[in-house]
Amino acid sequence: MLADSALWNIATTTIAFHACPFRRKTGRQSHVPVREEQEGTPLMSDAPLLQEPLHSDVGSAFHNRYPLPVRLLHWTRAAVILALIALGLIMTTLPETIAAQFAWMYPTHKEFGVLAFGIGVIALVVRTRTVMPPHPAGLAPWETLLSKGVQAGMLILAIVVPLMGYAMSSSYTQSDGVPFFVGDLPELLPKNDRAFAIFQWLHETLAYTLLGLIALHIGGVVKHRVLDKGRETDVLGRML
Ligand code: HEM
Ligand code: HEM
Repeated sequence: MLADSALWNIATTTIAFHACPFRRKTGRQSHVPVREEQEGTPLMSDAPLLQEPLHSDVGSAFHNRYPLPVRLLHWTRAAVILALIALGLIMTTLPETIAAQFAWMYPTHKEFGVLAFGIGVIALVVRTRTVMPPHPAGLAPWETLLSKGVQAGMLILAIVVPLMGYAMSSSYTQSDGVPFFVGDLPELLPKNDRAFAIFQWLHETLAYTLLGLIALHIGGVVKHRVLDKGRETDVLGRML
């Protein structure tokens, strides 16, 4: 009799927990992996889980963390790209009489620009072979759309901007070459100053578009850090 009533209690509590309308919205009370919860797949699903456990740290700053290679590539690329934009801006606004501009600023910008291209390609390949954590279920639909769009834009521009830089340098009739640490890379495009002007415009415009997307990206991370601290939508811990 006592056993029966204990069993009844457990059963009703479990049903109430799973039927709770707030559970899906906050996603914090749950002990099941978020992806299963979002997609409604059964608990015993044999679909592959993320490489890092989803449930052990629910509610902590590191909930749904990105795999280590993705985190390392993210921060390396972030540092390289932000430094490249700053250096690009400085070197193109300095007066031409300053020797450092052509002695090391342009060559360093090109070297690290080619490196950024390499990181961008490796990051894309790693992404296709990694199960990435899902976007937090607690985001409004417009926030998910904006965040996905901004991330896709950054992934594409992080490859296209250095390609335009290479095309600009390569087609310039008075180019100093494209150095890459151990030696010069071949300049594959035919020399043509009209083509150079187009690539120069594309490189500049797309680099500042990338900067705009990065500003939106950082703004979003900071917004959720400040307003949703500790919740599932406070995503900074996923990338640390
Ligand atoms: C993600 C990689 C890169 C970023 C974010 C980037 C960003 C920038 C920025 C912001 C400028 C200043 C534009 C202006 O205000 O006129 C610039 C200029 C320049 N970049 Fe890049 N760059 C990258 C890669 C490259 C690469 C790979 C090369 C060449 C191999 C290159 C060559 C140049 C040159 C020659 C300039 C000066 C253009 C001029 O004098 O008008 N960049 N870059
Ligand atoms: C201080 C600057 C930055 C901070 C604090 C930051 C933070 C973050 C965080 C917290 C995430 C995870 C977002 C989520 O899970 O929804 C993320 C993802 C991402 N970030 Fe950043 N980020 C920074 C700079 C950059 C820069 C400069 C880029 C340039 C390409 C970038 C590209 C990305 C991409 C593409 C993702 C999606 C995950 C991936 O494919 O690697 N981030 N970032």
